Amino acid sequence: MYRTHTCGELRLENVNADVCLSGWVQKIRNLGAMTFIDLRDRYGITQLVVEETASEELKRQINGLGREFVIQVKGKVVERANKNHKIPTGDIEILLNEINVLSHSEIPPFTIEDNTDGGDEIRMKYRYLDLRRQMVRKNLELRHRMAHLVRNYLDTQHFMEVETPVLIKSTPEGARDFVVPSRMNQGQFYALPQSPQTFKQLLMVAGFDRYYQIVKCFRDEDLRADRQPEFTQIDCEMSFVEQQDVLRIFEGMVRHLFKEIKGIDIPELQRMTWHDAMEYYGCDKPDLRFDMKFVNLTVPAQTKDFTVFNSAEYVGAICAPGCASYTRKQLDELTEFVKRPQIGAKGLVYVKYNEDGTLKSSVDKFYNEEDLKNWAETCQAKPGDLLLILCGPKNKTLSQLCELRLEMGNRLGLRDKDVFKPLWVVDFPLLEWDEETQRFYAMHHPFTSPKPEDIDMMESNPGAVRANAYDMVINGVEVGGGSIRIHDNQLQQRMFKCLGFTPEQAEKQFGFLLNAFKYGAPPHGGIAFGFDRLVSMFAGLDSIRDTIAFPKNNSGRDVMIDSPSEISAEQFKELGIKLNP
Ligand code: AMO
Repeated sequence: MYRTHTCGELRLENVNADVCLSGWVQKIRNLGAMTFIDLRDRYGITQLVVEETASEELKRQINGLGREFVIQVKGKVVERANKNHKIPTGDIEILLNEINVLSHSEIPPFTIEDNTDGGDEIRMKYRYLDLRRQMVRKNLELRHRMAHLVRNYLDTQHFMEVETPVLIKSTPEGARDFVVPSRMNQGQFYALPQSPQTFKQLLMVAGFDRYYQIVKCFRDEDLRADRQPEFTQIDCEMSFVEQQDVLRIFEGMVRHLFKEIKGIDIPELQRMTWHDAMEYYGCDKPDLRFDMKFVNLTVPAQTKDFTVFNSAEYVGAICAPGCASYTRKQLDELTEFVKRPQIGAKGLVYVKYNEDGTLKSSVDKFYNEEDLKNWAETCQAKPGDLLLILCGPKNKTLSQLCELRLEMGNRLGLRDKDVFKPLWVVDFPLLEWDEETQRFYAMHHPFTSPKPEDIDMMESNPGAVRANAYDMVINGVEVGGGSIRIHDNQLQQRMFKCLGFTPEQAEKQFGFLLNAFKYGAPPHGGIAFGFDRLVSMFAGLDSIRDTIAFPKNNSGRDVMIDSPSEISAEQFKELGIKLNP
């Protein structure tokens, strides 16, 4: 028997018990007369003590120990003289009478502590050591708990978990596919699924009614803090539902998670149209932890001789509460911020609504106090507030204001990680025009249903058609998205036509789905949550990387196993792939 207890288990009531523990040596403190060892496992840390009166053999063994050795120890639980209130086992220690070294360890390349001395690269290379650190492991424990809660919740709602294939077919829509050559069908390739979208729809045609899967998805896209090339979705689909039904079930799931994990009661989720999200927050994933909604000042700003405003398609403002006291330096910093190439504004206009009721702006040459007062009132500003104004082409200015708003939210400490503001963004456009390729793309995916009242515009004004699609957004992060699907073969064909597919191309790519729809497809819809994003939100992390046991780095590499890597000439030959000379 390797152990009677774990390293997180023993308390005062165990005093005098003879116990046996196994774990890793976290730390050894040799104080001359006594030696203390911190023994660690997944469950916690227990202090071991070897007294001066211990046998020479035991002392010799202790001297041979090093950090991260795996040992088994036997001894008696005693009450500590100096209690450590920071850890649950801090009232006791184990007076040792036997040690067995189960495994030696080389000196680890970084310290296995919360505040480690290891940089990112080295910790990724030795990820199995990084995972020994409590703060990293805690994220994976949270992930496990959340997956468990999700499964339980969906089970109570009669969802059935079904696995779908990983070797599937490449499609030109969406992100870039990862492809896998087929040895048995030389010259042909599988693709790894970007999501199980078409399979879950086929399961609805098959009558499964409610499906879910916690599933790996693969997308060959540029990586960011909230993107990994392989990531996990909580993927769901339901039959005989309208948008309202899907939102209700999945709002329930997220509220269940908040209740169980955080003890927070989330009120019914706000719904915001995509149009309002863009108009008032400049993006489709607004962070509602703070206000600062955009105010359209185009009309009141175009009343004087200021050509910068007069020639702009849009003039918009945010009102930063309590910032009228900003110094020249702070205002210059904000101007520099919006002028950075990533944001690309030409300049920033400010209006200070001073505490004494006077107004001062960077455009005093053109506007009198009455004009400024009028703007301040339009923005519902109070004395002490600061208006920040940008202008230019509408869409571009809205997204610049979005960046500025988030920056002000950061500066004012309004983006608290312990505050959660989820919402649904609904009524996305069905299609998105791409200048480069001069064609429409599906904003969500080609199986998303248009709103019934907009179907008539599909040919005459495709850009104006709204989709029966929705995203769940929490604190400015898109954690999930889905839609009601097209279940009618004719409508699906029309959609492919809008996307510029010839009937032959549609047949070649998605014939299996179109065909399935000929045999009685129920009305259906669904959603997929980014599980890594959801976990990182609950863990308060900035990146999804630390919610994943073995993530890729920003170049899509796993530096631990050193992948991707080359394959042998033999493998190429087997696959029938010719290498360039
Ligand atoms: P979508 O493409 O919106 O929808 O993806 C669903 C959710 O998955 C997460 N996500 C990612 N997370 C980490 N890394 C990535 N590279 C990544 N890409 C997406 C996001 C996103 O909201 N089949 C549809 C869903 C449906 O219609 O039911 C789909 O995949 O949180």
